[in-house]
Amino acid sequence: MKRTTLTAIAATTTVLLASGSAFAQSAKLKVGLMLPYTGTYAALGNAIENGFKLHLAEQGGKVGGREVEFFKVDDESDPSKATENVGKLVKRDQVDVLIGTVHSGVAMAMAKAAKDSNTLLIVPNAGADAVTGPMCGPNIYRSSFSNWQPGYAMGEVMAKKGIKKAVTITWKYAAGDESVKGFKESFTKGGGEVLKDLTVPFPGVEFQALLTEIAALKPDAVYTFFAGGGAVKFVKDYDAAGLKKSIPLYGAGFITDGTLEAQGASAEGLLTSLHYGDSLTNPKDKSFRLAYAKAYKLQPDVYAVQGYDAAQILGIGLAAVKGDVSKKAEFAAAVEKAKIDSPRGPFSLSKAHNPVQDIYLRQVSGKENKVIGIASKSLADPARGCKS
Ligand code: BEZ
Repeated sequence: MKRTTLTAIAATTTVLLASGSAFAQSAKLKVGLMLPYTGTYAALGNAIENGFKLHLAEQGGKVGGREVEFFKVDDESDPSKATENVGKLVKRDQVDVLIGTVHSGVAMAMAKAAKDSNTLLIVPNAGADAVTGPMCGPNIYRSSFSNWQPGYAMGEVMAKKGIKKAVTITWKYAAGDESVKGFKESFTKGGGEVLKDLTVPFPGVEFQALLTEIAALKPDAVYTFFAGGGAVKFVKDYDAAGLKKSIPLYGAGFITDGTLEAQGASAEGLLTSLHYGDSLTNPKDKSFRLAYAKAYKLQPDVYAVQGYDAAQILGIGLAAVKGDVSKKAEFAAAVEKAKIDSPRGPFSLSKAHNPVQDIYLRQVSGKENKVIGIASKSLADPARGCKS
């Protein structure tokens, strides 16, 4: 081929590539929401979506200069369907970013799919330690917590209170196991002893036999992880069994978050640890709560905050790369140095991309999880196994 012909082809190709990438960025950003919309975690999934969309609305419906098109999958909090479900978003819909999910087991399948396809993933709840541990990576972020964090903070609180003997009770899956592990790490370091770890299969709510066992073991206190519909039932059953008066119940704050209306007096006075609460006084929380109540006629909870902050993280990263999701390293650099102005209070992300944040000590008072102190200041997950 003649040199002039080759030069002409090269010039045409350059023009096409340039206009192709300009098109890619002016096209709508495809956001895949993989959340539970049915089952025991349905309310959590809805709150996350509400929070995410609230932030987007505040930005005029755009992120990184791009309009957004949503693709939704109900993951049902079912790990056995997770790989197929995330495949629908990654392969069929070819989303630019995955937002999900609530359940730790499902989130691990999402993290694997995100790694394999190099898709951006922001986890707006699931605390699976592995996501920001061995599975960490430049395209994986979490706007919520690691399961270790609230558990570890509560172990310290209970040990400092002089509690010596505890029993733990939770669902038998990654979130429950890791929450209890975090609790035991600090509780035993502080001189406490765990008499027994009790579990029920997820999402089961047959608690009676285990409550009878707790009564027989007579610990000084109980530490628990349950959330959503299961948390409502557990707190009511614990009270109805007459245990609330004799054996104080403590937990990771999910046990009373977004659940107080349904738990009623059974939850009154319970002490929990979490990175959000109902009586914070920072200006961001004030404006967030007003806007959320106006938009949804509902009070926000921790899940709504995590959804809102997932959208904030996406916005910070995409602004830095002018909407070009392929620039993973530049996206990561911008997010890693950001202070995220969250309703929970400002936080930053660790190298492993998990929030470094205050874990509050809260007490249920009426329909609120009142913040009564800080259980652990600027607590960073140890990110065990993260090589990035
Ligand atoms: C989890 O599976 O990681 C989880 C679910 C609900 C609340 C908190 C954690």
